[in-house]
Amino acid sequence: MRTLTVQLADRSYPIHIGPGLLKRVELMIERMPQKAAALVTNTTVEPLYSRGLVAALEASGVRVVRVVLPDGEAHKNWESLNRIFDLLIAGRCERNTTVIALGGGVVGDLAGFAAAIYQRGTPFIQVPTTLLAHVDSAVGGKTAINHPLGKNMIGAFYQPRVVVIDTDTLETLPAREFAAGVAEVIKYGAIRDAAFFAWLEQHIERVIARDPDALGYAIERSCINKAEVVGQDERETGQRALLNYGHTFGHAIEAGVGYGAWLHGEAVAAGMVLAAKLSRRLGFLGEQEVARITSLLRRARLPVDGPELSVERYFELMAHDKKVEGGRLRFILLRGLGEAFLASDVPVVAVEEALAQRHASDV
Ligand code: NAD
Ligand code: GLY
Repeated sequence: MRTLTVQLADRSYPIHIGPGLLKRVELMIERMPQKAAALVTNTTVEPLYSRGLVAALEASGVRVVRVVLPDGEAHKNWESLNRIFDLLIAGRCERNTTVIALGGGVVGDLAGFAAAIYQRGTPFIQVPTTLLAHVDSAVGGKTAINHPLGKNMIGAFYQPRVVVIDTDTLETLPAREFAAGVAEVIKYGAIRDAAFFAWLEQHIERVIARDPDALGYAIERSCINKAEVVGQDERETGQRALLNYGHTFGHAIEAGVGYGAWLHGEAVAAGMVLAAKLSRRLGFLGEQEVARITSLLRRARLPVDGPELSVERYFELMAHDKKVEGGRLRFILLRGLGEAFLASDVPVVAVEEALAQRHASDV
């Protein structure tokens, strides 16, 4: 097991990474103020991992209230949040009851938001089970639900007490979901860790094959990057925004093709290629670097071509992005591989040109 720390003064917390950690319930219990928990999961993860975890917690004397939600992004809403509260209140959960999120980013975001506001804040633990949640959503304290008019529009910053990453849980993750998580792994290399990007170029096939050593290293290195960024800018007043590389285009793609048609990581992959092309048009990135990003994503079995939406439609969709400030579109661009920056005055014509070249081979 490897342990990292998210440094946030008196709210600092460990991230434990390794195989078999679901059985190590002491890693959770030592961060709980009392032996009472509400385990939030969904109908897919429940039969895979929840029963064993609940049994292990109960065997250690923890009283557990179970909350099983329907699966899917469509359920990241008020109704699911209310279901959590109904069961917490019916189960007499108190302010010191720890909410444990067991699942992917949807469960983590929902349970985290519930923990943030139930009785004005209860302790919270993340036990992520998708690659995307291992390397991104479980770390950093962003919690949210969707609104019919926008994704993640209602939420709170609320940090967990500990993140327990059992890498064995990835054995059951469908290939497409796995690849979507790899997109976020590649993102860390592209935005702030050129050496990691080069390592991924060497080892991407091992990562995709879920080789335990390569995958464990990729998760750890991603979490190190995420933890550093969150430790320096918890509330996204500066560099945390760089984690949204590829996301302005990506969110437009997700919405434009209809939520659920493309996975978030798939949209981010094509979005990262578009953002690299935009960086190149503005003279910040070379053609060879755009090709390296495209090739690595392709080898990770991710889409690198933006979908066939009109340029006008992309613009319309991008206007809803949370990075819109004062009506202007802002983009995360690359100034070479491994160095991202926030550009707020990007000429519209350059964005149009990048979008016109949304097939990966058009550079
Ligand atoms: P998800 O939670 O929908 O999980 C993907 C699918 O895999 C689901 O069907 C889930 O039930 C299933 N699953 C989960 N673990 C499994 C396992 N071990 N074996 C088999 N199936 C398993 O999707 P996700 O990609 O994990 O997360 C996406 C969500 O995360 C989005 O809502 C996004 O907004 C959010 N997100 C949040 C942050 C953050 O910082 N809070 C960051 C990135 C994304
Ligand atoms: N996933 C982006 C962030 O946590 O800030």
